Amino acid sequence: MYLNKFKNKKILITGHTGFKGSWLALWLQKLGAEVVGYALEPETKPNLFEVLNLETKVTNYFGDIRDFEKLETVIQKEKPEIIFHLAAQALVRESYKNPRKTFEVNTMGTVNLLEACRNCDSVKTIINVTTDKCYENKEWVYGYRESDALGGYDPYSASKANSEIITASYRNSFFNPQDYGNKHHVALASARAGNVIGGGDWSEDRLVPDCIKSLSQKQSILIRNPLATRPWQHVLEPLRGYLWLAAKMMDDPISYSQAWNFGPNDDGQINVEILVQKIIKNWGAGDYQIDKSIQPHEAHLLKLDLSKSKALLKYQPCLDINQCIALTVDWYKHYYDNCDMQRICLEQIKKISSYDNISAIASS
Ligand SMILES: NC(=O)c1ccc[n+]([C@@H]2O[C@H](COP(=O)([O-])OP(=O)(O)OC[C@H]3O[C@@H](n4cnc5c(N)ncnc54)[C@H](O)[C@@H]3O)[C@@H](O)[C@H]2O)c1
Repeated sequence: MYLNKFKNKKILITGHTGFKGSWLALWLQKLGAEVVGYALEPETKPNLFEVLNLETKVTNYFGDIRDFEKLETVIQKEKPEIIFHLAAQALVRESYKNPRKTFEVNTMGTVNLLEACRNCDSVKTIINVTTDKCYENKEWVYGYRESDALGGYDPYSASKANSEIITASYRNSFFNPQDYGNKHHVALASARAGNVIGGGDWSEDRLVPDCIKSLSQKQSILIRNPLATRPWQHVLEPLRGYLWLAAKMMDDPISYSQAWNFGPNDDGQINVEILVQKIIKNWGAGDYQIDKSIQPHEAHLLKLDLSKSKALLKYQPCLDINQCIALTVDWYKHYYDNCDMQRICLEQIKKISSYDNISAIASS
């Protein structure tokens, strides 16, 4: 079973104080990995990092990814074998307010990480987490493939496309699969996930946190782009994809050092208004209004094509959109009922891991 591969491995997560990074840190720690984290201190109140008390579970470094010396010192000291690079300025609207910082963090942050890895022999597997937004958006009704042109209208999307180009450049120049075993021992891939929903996200200007904030305060939800279609997926889906990919790269570093899409099946590609209606239905009460004020540009139609991941990685999403929303709303309800959220997170992780047990049995 691929999840057993992480036991006793030293794994660095950059961005471990964020929404996805906190879930990943908990999951890997539960799998028996020795987790090291490098990120800024949590930026929201509340935040999942503190809710899960992760400071006591991982070797924790608060540092800026733009600080090359500090990052390199941590990597040299900790000598990780596997790295998941999630640290980023991850918000589109914030990128309009602060483009320079977004480009610095998301592009030079990637350079700093890969450069530090170039000087550290322990590192064998690196996954750079980018996004569905790294593609040049043509408002196609069909999904983007890994070979489609990169681009980005807003600074966040462009910075993530840059991060992809940097990754490809490092792979060609320093970690070339053709030279594996001779000139280097590093497998380097990138993972382009869809829009993630799930418990424990309190970021500004993100749809699900905005909905939950309004619903928990019995206020009307204000939605900005009702017709914008996104590939929605539960946070554990792409994380499962990253773990799956890392396990494959450990076994076969040459074949899997590429870019991969991790999105939902077609049922997960729905518009904002439908998603909000489903969230309200799961919550059990609430309503929404459409904000008619002029908004900064965001793509209307964004889908991911999963053909390559399905065919070559044998990766399949395992939750449908209704299950994704049910898990998400359930998480927040437990949170506002003062439940033990580590237990709830581990139950959700166990649930998603059980799908892999079933598919492993089915394919054996
Ligand atoms: N949430 C989504 O829907 C989604 C979708 C696709 C891709 N992604 C990508 O997944 C990754 C994680 O996203 P998230 O939703 O958890 O975001 P988040 O904002 O919750 O977390 C971002 C993390 O990056 C860290 N970080 C930010 N600036 C930093 C800096 N200058 N130096 C060091 N660390 C810094 C933060 O401290 C935090 O740990 C990002 O790379 C994001 O682009 C997210």
